[in-house]
Amino acid sequence: MPQQSRKIALVTGSTDGVGRFVAERLGADGWDVIVHGRDAERGAAVVATIAAVGGGARFLSADLSDLAAVRGLAEQVAKAAPRLDLLINNAGIGSGGSGAKRQINAAGVELRFAVNYLAGFALTMRLLPLLRASAPARIVNVASIGQRAIDFDDVMLERGYSGGRAYTQSKLAQIMFSFDLAQRLEGTGVTVNCLHPATYMATTMVREAGATPWSTVEEGGQAILQLAQSPVAEGRSGLYFNGLAEARADSQAYDAEARAKLWGLSSQLAGLTDEGR
Ligand SMILES: NC(=O)c1ccc[n+]([C@@H]2O[C@H](COP(=O)([O-])OP(=O)(O)OC[C@H]3O[C@@H](n4cnc5c(N)ncnc54)[C@H](OP(=O)(O)O)[C@@H]3O)[C@@H](O)[C@H]2O)c1
Repeated sequence: MPQQSRKIALVTGSTDGVGRFVAERLGADGWDVIVHGRDAERGAAVVATIAAVGGGARFLSADLSDLAAVRGLAEQVAKAAPRLDLLINNAGIGSGGSGAKRQINAAGVELRFAVNYLAGFALTMRLLPLLRASAPARIVNVASIGQRAIDFDDVMLERGYSGGRAYTQSKLAQIMFSFDLAQRLEGTGVTVNCLHPATYMATTMVREAGATPWSTVEEGGQAILQLAQSPVAEGRSGLYFNGLAEARADSQAYDAEARAKLWGLSSQLAGLTDEGR
């Protein structure tokens, strides 16, 4: 890996859950897949599964709670891949259930905001030159139907914290970012869409939250794959899907002023200019 003729995809959080399903399916469909997570053993197992069906894969490790590691991941991808046709920002941590305690990363950023949203923002912006040079290319942000409007006076959730609030705020942030980025990338051949894959798939984060699974990983995986590689999504951008169907997100996602505020805050936290460099 990589073979010149194959398209290249990066799937964050593909050592487990629906990300793993998607990475393995892309590998079976002939993509070169960059598998990402934190656990080298689980990463090697996914790479081996893809290799066993004749696909190409490699594992890159990065803890997305750390923005320096996110920058390192972007640099490793740019070094390892001559092109990038698909970026799926899938890695995430769940609500953690009713007992979840507020956590921050080393820079003081609330953990779910940092991992679920800010890391994807920073990674995408750093990989944009490669994606643009590889156009047509697609970005898929794996969000959720669980969305909560961001209180810009308390984005770090210092008051009234709950794991559910932290999770749903981070998921709406991903959608707001997707809508803004799609506008900024109009005419470049790089599309950006986001989705709720499926409700309570049987994955680690759902088990950890103490919820009973309702959907299969395959169901959510197929919804992600539709946006990632199906002709249905070709040339389409700035959309939110619930499973396989286009849907409407929380109203804050359609508030350009709120989106601009989030973009400014994210650029500042990620140490990027407003243009994302
Ligand atoms: N499950 C659902 O029903 C559901 C519903 C709606 C949306 N979603 C979204 O779907 C995505 C995948 O969820 P899932 O249910 O498949 O979760 P999962 O099985 O818990 O897998 C999460 C993945 O993210 C990675 N990850 C977590 N924290 C990380 C960090 N700090 N740095 C780097 N990687 C990290 C994990 O890597 P490690 O192997 O290193 O832990 C793992 O590969 C998430 O964005 C989630 O919000 C899920």
